Amino acid sequence: MNFPHDSAVRHVSGESVYVDDILVNSQLLIGRVVYSKHAHAEIKSVDIEAAKNLKGVHAVLTYKDIPGQNQMGPVIHDEVCLAADLVECVGQAIVLIAAETEEIAIEAERLVKIEFTPLDAVLDIRTAISKNMLLGPVRTMQRGDAEAVLKSAPYTITGELETGAQEHWYLETQTCLCIPGEQQEITAYSSTQHPSETQAIIAEVLGISKNEVVVETRRMGGAFGGKETQANWTAAWSALLCQATKRPVKIRLFRDDDQIMTGKRHPFLINYEVGFNAEGQILAMKVSQHSNGGCATDLSLAILERAMLHADNCYFIPDIHVTGKAHKTNLPSNTAFRGFGGPQGIAAMETIIDRIARDLKKDAAEIRRINFYGIDSNNVTHYGQTVELNRLPVLYDKIMQSSDYFNRRKLINKFNSENEFFKKGIAFTPVKFGISFTTSFLNQAGALVNIYKDGTILVNHGGTEMGQGLNTKILQIASAELGVSHSKIKVNATNTSKVPNTSATAASAGTDLNGMAVKNAIDILKGRITELIADEFTRHSPAEPSLKANIRIENDLIYDAENPGRKMPFDEAMNLCHFNQISLSSTGFYRTPDISWDKQAGWGKPFNYFAFGVCVSEVLVDTLTGFYKILRTDILHDAGDPINHGIDKGQVEGAYIQGLGWCTTEEVKWNEKGHLLNHSPDTYKIPSIQDIPEDFRVELLEGIPNPNAVRKSKAVGEPPFMHAFATWLAIKDAISAVGNHRFEPQFKIPATNELVLLSIEQIRSKMKQSVEIPVQ
Ligand code: MTE
Ligand code: MOS
Repeated sequence: MNFPHDSAVRHVSGESVYVDDILVNSQLLIGRVVYSKHAHAEIKSVDIEAAKNLKGVHAVLTYKDIPGQNQMGPVIHDEVCLAADLVECVGQAIVLIAAETEEIAIEAERLVKIEFTPLDAVLDIRTAISKNMLLGPVRTMQRGDAEAVLKSAPYTITGELETGAQEHWYLETQTCLCIPGEQQEITAYSSTQHPSETQAIIAEVLGISKNEVVVETRRMGGAFGGKETQANWTAAWSALLCQATKRPVKIRLFRDDDQIMTGKRHPFLINYEVGFNAEGQILAMKVSQHSNGGCATDLSLAILERAMLHADNCYFIPDIHVTGKAHKTNLPSNTAFRGFGGPQGIAAMETIIDRIARDLKKDAAEIRRINFYGIDSNNVTHYGQTVELNRLPVLYDKIMQSSDYFNRRKLINKFNSENEFFKKGIAFTPVKFGISFTTSFLNQAGALVNIYKDGTILVNHGGTEMGQGLNTKILQIASAELGVSHSKIKVNATNTSKVPNTSATAASAGTDLNGMAVKNAIDILKGRITELIADEFTRHSPAEPSLKANIRIENDLIYDAENPGRKMPFDEAMNLCHFNQISLSSTGFYRTPDISWDKQAGWGKPFNYFAFGVCVSEVLVDTLTGFYKILRTDILHDAGDPINHGIDKGQVEGAYIQGLGWCTTEEVKWNEKGHLLNHSPDTYKIPSIQDIPEDFRVELLEGIPNPNAVRKSKAVGEPPFMHAFATWLAIKDAISAVGNHRFEPQFKIPATNELVLLSIEQIRSKMKQSVEIPVQ
């Protein structure tokens, strides 16, 4: 159903309250972080005296002033809160300042004197590989004997794919406001995807216990994975300043600082070797994935694991061997970003298929189709999970028809033969994306539903709203499960004192997990309510008792289905419950059933289910400038029975566009000293309105409910990110057309205009050479 996003009106009217909008009294201090200008260096000395003495400065803190642990590593404790004697990336925090105004804080920053002894820095993945500084153990997932099958395969291809970083570019930068309470108590209003972890980190650095810290998150102005762990930093820093000054302290990072200091999507280098037959059927594949983790572990190991779990994308590969290494470098610790490693893994697989097609002079869509996981056979992944409810064949048939793919392919070939300087390209790509946290215990959620005497309802749950519409969907779930209208329900700000020990809102599982927890709480409440109301109806007509099982709640009315004359408005009934001493508040809980994952063996059923989607995209490339334009993109995405059709469609569109940015224009550049060169929107190019396809057709697969999630819906936050690969490979197809598809274009992520032009030039020079030495 369609129902507007809970913030739709409030966003445009400016009434939505973000952390920076929270009204605080005149005691408020502004926090500022002094960070390293070196990628790797020893700290010789830190002089904060002059800064401390500046009028209007209330605190200047170094690691020595941390009362608890100097640590904020979320999974592995390898991330100091403030650098002591070593910095490992540009942007690493060293000194904290709290001052009465932003201007005074900046002035104080200028007075802080830090002396460094620079050390050698490792920045890029190739140097990192040569140094072999790993953040965790080498991981392997395998089935069969890829090595042996590769040796006997009729055709083989080897190669590598490089994928770049990506800046999250949430509109609201990392922000936290801390307010001191009684004794050690502290309340943090944090723009975090993970309030429970933010609470834990604050408690750890302050040396206090979790029951003294409350973290509240009303909404984030975007997160995209960038606030899954790294929102903890601003929270920890503002909490330290708050505790030191006993005044409210807010840190809102400036855009440039945010971009310089925080981690990005992990750049990957992926080496592959694939064996296939003359039809293009893949027989064996060896893939080794290397990720650039930055200077600390953060979520790198889980991200690498997801990349490895998506090395197959949609294809059954009998003999397969996948290894993964996360490398330590001197960049800010790279972190979660929509897709969480999945996009990197899938990009390599789609590159492989694209290359097989060019090698065999076949259409890549056909190669994709014949390698799809089967329905009854060839349906087990390289990590042992059966691909159930496989929607790939139906999606393929539908999009081939609706996009008129094969006919357009012919028209494009004709266009390309008639045009020397403009070339068109087209590509089809599918996606299969596993839904669940691969760290199995994280697949749990809690809720607290309160019904008040007037019949209104306040829903608390552990998920966070970042624009994806979780709170709107939760409201709709509560309304449908309880049988009362939307207008009677409010979804509360996420608060660690209402629902404790929650998981991050991530892995696209926010609605699946929290929606189920809310349903559980409502089921409990409905049990109590229907029992009381059955007794009440019976009291009025003892001869013909009402049975609890027959009591229904619908459209704000409670009635006996066997005897519809017996009814009562919902709000009246709630008042009655209260007078009869029935508790109208309940917690709810959910854990994903039936998943298991043996990390060591690389085998099991890590996912509750898979999300699927397909995309066809067509582009036009100006071969003289490298400029490209997206002529048309068709997406068909499987979101089960959507809880909110409009929101899900918006997620599909937004994810594709964000993926497009990563695949095309968003090039994160560091200089040889590890300084980020493009740390503002004038140099870092996220997609704008001109970059969306001229003809953009997004549809959700209709009428195929998902039995594995709340109200038959399906997770949709990340899977459609991968649809951008159709556009990316369409650009490659157009480049390939320059050489009549005889040469493999040089290609990577991002395919910037410069890369496209270079790649075309390279093909042109190969064509000149091949006049003398014909191919084959
Ligand atoms: N959509 C918006 N508007 N803003 C965001 O920050 N984050 C994405 C996705 N969609 C994001 C978004 C990411 S990375 C994830 S994991 C999911 O939303 C998380 O929310 P969900 O689990 O409720 O889908
Ligand atoms: Mo999303 S990258 O799982 O926060």
